Amino acid sequence: MGAQDPEQDRTAHSRKRRALQSLESPRERLAESHLIPESADRPGDDPIFALNAEALRRARAGEDVLNSTIGALMRDDGRMAVLPTVFEAYRRVDPEKAAAYAPISGPPAFLRGVFEDLLPESPYVEQAVGAATPGGTGAIHHAIVNFLEPGQSLLTTNYYWGPYGILAKHTRRGIETFDMFGVDGRFDSAAMESALERLIARQDRVLVLLNTPCQNPTGYSLDDDDWERAIAVLLRAAERVPVTLLLDLAYARFAQPGSIRWPVFMDQLAGKVTMLFAWTASKAFAQYGARIGACVAVEPDPAERERIKNALGFSCRGTWSNCNHLGMLAITEILTDPELRQRCDAERAELRRLLTERAAAFNEHASTAGLRFPRYEGGFFVSVFTPDAARTSAIMRDAGVFVVPLEGAVRVAICATSADKIPRLVAALEEGVRGAEG
Ligand SMILES: Cc1ncc(COP(=O)(O)O)c(C=O)c1O
Repeated sequence: MGAQDPEQDRTAHSRKRRALQSLESPRERLAESHLIPESADRPGDDPIFALNAEALRRARAGEDVLNSTIGALMRDDGRMAVLPTVFEAYRRVDPEKAAAYAPISGPPAFLRGVFEDLLPESPYVEQAVGAATPGGTGAIHHAIVNFLEPGQSLLTTNYYWGPYGILAKHTRRGIETFDMFGVDGRFDSAAMESALERLIARQDRVLVLLNTPCQNPTGYSLDDDDWERAIAVLLRAAERVPVTLLLDLAYARFAQPGSIRWPVFMDQLAGKVTMLFAWTASKAFAQYGARIGACVAVEPDPAERERIKNALGFSCRGTWSNCNHLGMLAITEILTDPELRQRCDAERAELRRLLTERAAAFNEHASTAGLRFPRYEGGFFVSVFTPDAARTSAIMRDAGVFVVPLEGAVRVAICATSADKIPRLVAALEEGVRGAEG
């Protein structure tokens, strides 16, 4: 074939563009796209990022904006909260080691550090296997592709972190939900059981995904009673089909110490329900951009453990190959050096104190205002129920207060709202909810 004439090429391209623009219906336009049909009508910007962008634009134009959409922990002065020890750990890493590829499944010392972090002083550490992933997102991806067949659906609560749905769809799986809260405002294990029944009638395995403690978006943490009921449901289901429970621990390090409950319940589940954990440094070490995480499985049977380990490693190779070596080496330093770890924990405790103070202010003002919201003890987010979330958030936006509309609630990023702003936030919520009520 001879060389292409660039001028001819450009003309052909602009002819094609004009032809596409002249097509009437989106369907006709899609037929002309080189993207496969399902990729040709993907939504654009993430709605939360779009809201955040509007808040920033209005603030830059001089408006007094309260932006409670951001999912990162901000100090009271609006600056990003960071942990100085993490950067100290980065400086300790040997540049030549950091520059090299990491092992596909992650450095063994990193994985061991993660297992011990998840299950401190627990014999289950010896039954853990895992693979490094870019944050918790990667861990959720690996769980979905390895524990569900294409066409099958995972099960989670009706309030959930939106990307669960994207991850499922992108990997040709689906997502089913159950009502998270019963009329008593507690975790609705009966709704979970009914949803499981429906799923089991349709598919030969289930993957249940729970985000606790400090769920995004509701802020709810399962307590012991919730756990007992949820475990009974899972064990009943596990008598019929293979059941995998994936715990998304994105915010666990910011929970009240008493709400870290999974180690207590491991005995009941081990060997009956496969336990997976999505571990991440994004929030725990304020390293959102570093993409450090792990998908961890606890499995008593050595042969099955080996299979899971290989499957997770294979998925790494088949997606991102390997993860951020510098980041994993730095986090390993913190996880394995007791002195550094202690200082890091103290820095984090200071940030947790900030959040606890904000949560207390929110609980007090929101209760006085008569707002309805789930039990909230701390963590990055809380949600406030409303009959019309779009209307509530629009009313709030008019008053310069930004929150994220969900189905039946708005999500409030307490992590980005200083305690002194909580009264304004709650006043706007009250006006927004009343406006939606009619
Ligand atoms: C509930 C939940 N799970 C998982 C993640 C994953 O975060 P990352 O991939 O940064 O660890 C997030 C991030 O916002 C989240 O909110």
